[in-house]
Amino acid sequence: MQGKTERNLGLDLARATEAAALAAGQWAGRGDTHAADADATQAMRQALNTIHMDGKLILGEEARHPDYSDVLATGEKVGDGRLPAVDVAVNPIEGIRLLAEGLPEVLSVAAAAPKGAVRSFAPAAYMEKLVVSREVAQALTPKCLDAPAGWTLGLIAREKKKPVSAVTVFVLNRPRHKELIEEIREAGARILLRPEGDVAGALRAATPGSGVDALMGIGGTTEGVIAACATKALNGGMLARLSPQSDQERSEVLGAGIEIDRILNCDQMVGSDDVFFAATGVTDGGLLDGVKFLRNGLTTHSLVLRGKTGTLRVVHTDHHRDWLTAIMDDTESPRHE
Ligand code: FBP
Repeated sequence: MQGKTERNLGLDLARATEAAALAAGQWAGRGDTHAADADATQAMRQALNTIHMDGKLILGEEARHPDYSDVLATGEKVGDGRLPAVDVAVNPIEGIRLLAEGLPEVLSVAAAAPKGAVRSFAPAAYMEKLVVSREVAQALTPKCLDAPAGWTLGLIAREKKKPVSAVTVFVLNRPRHKELIEEIREAGARILLRPEGDVAGALRAATPGSGVDALMGIGGTTEGVIAACATKALNGGMLARLSPQSDQERSEVLGAGIEIDRILNCDQMVGSDDVFFAATGVTDGGLLDGVKFLRNGLTTHSLVLRGKTGTLRVVHTDHHRDWLTAIMDDTESPRHE
C-alpha cells in the first residue's frame, strides 16, 4: 500500500459503519427509506472524511438508487487526503427496505484496499455471485457458475463432508431466481430465501460455521465488490460475472468497455491481500446484533476483518446517548431519551 502503515484501517472503517448504523437504526420500521438513507449517508460520509486516507469510492450507489439524493457516488473522494491511497466501497444501509419494515439482517458495510487493487465495474448495477467459505474455496472453478446449481451444491457438500441435504444456500427472493431456486430445491439443499441483503448472505457464506454454506444468485455490483473484499479477508471463495438487468444497463456496460461474460474469482476482483472490511449491525442478524437504544446510550456490534494478517475482530461499542444529536445536528431526527 502506498504510504504503507501498520495501522488497521478496518478499525477506522468500523467507526464509519458504526456512525451509519446508529443513524440508520433510528429509522427501523418507520417506512421512510429516503430519510433513512439521507441520515445514514450523511453520518457515514462525515465519519469517512475523518479517516487518515486518500480514498476514492470505486463503485457508488447511483446505479441502483438513482432516486436517492446525495448518495455516496462512484469517484467521490473520501478521507482526509493523507496517505495511504485506497480504493473504498461502502453501503451505509445494506437492506434499506428491510430497515423500513424493521426486519432483521440489515448491515452498514465498508471495505478498502490499496489504490488500484479493487476492480471497479461502474456503471454495472447487477452481478451474478457465488460465495463459499475457505473449506470449499480451493475447489471452485468457473464451471461452478455455469453448471446447474445441483452440480455446484454436490461439490460444496463433498468439500464440506456432508450430504447435499445439509447444505444451506442464501438466495435473494426475486423472480429472476425462479430457475435457480427450483434447481436448489431439486438438488435437496436447504434455502434461506431472503427479501434483501446479499452482503449479509455473502458474509455468512464465507464464514465457516455460520449456518450458511453458499450465496447464489444475482444482486448489486457494489454489494458484490464489498462481498469480494470480505470474502478475500476471510480466505473464502467467490465467483462473479456481470449480469445486466436491462438493455440500457447492458449498453452502458459495453460502452464503458467492460467485458460482460467474463467469470472472475475473488483474486481477480480484489488484487491485494491488504484488504480491510467492516460491518456493523443495524437490525439483529445471523452474525451481528443490531443497534440497541438503551436508557443511557446506544450500543453497536461490529465485525472488522484484515486480509493481510487474517485478523477478525468483533467489536461491541457503547455510545453516549448524545451521539445522535451530535452527528445529526442539522436534521430533524428525533432524540432518543
Ligand atoms: P440496498 O439496501 O442498497 O438497496 O441493497 C439491498 C439489496 O438486497 C442488496 O443486498 C442486493 O445486492 C440488491 O439489493 C439486489 O438488488 P434488487 O433489489 O434490485 O434486486
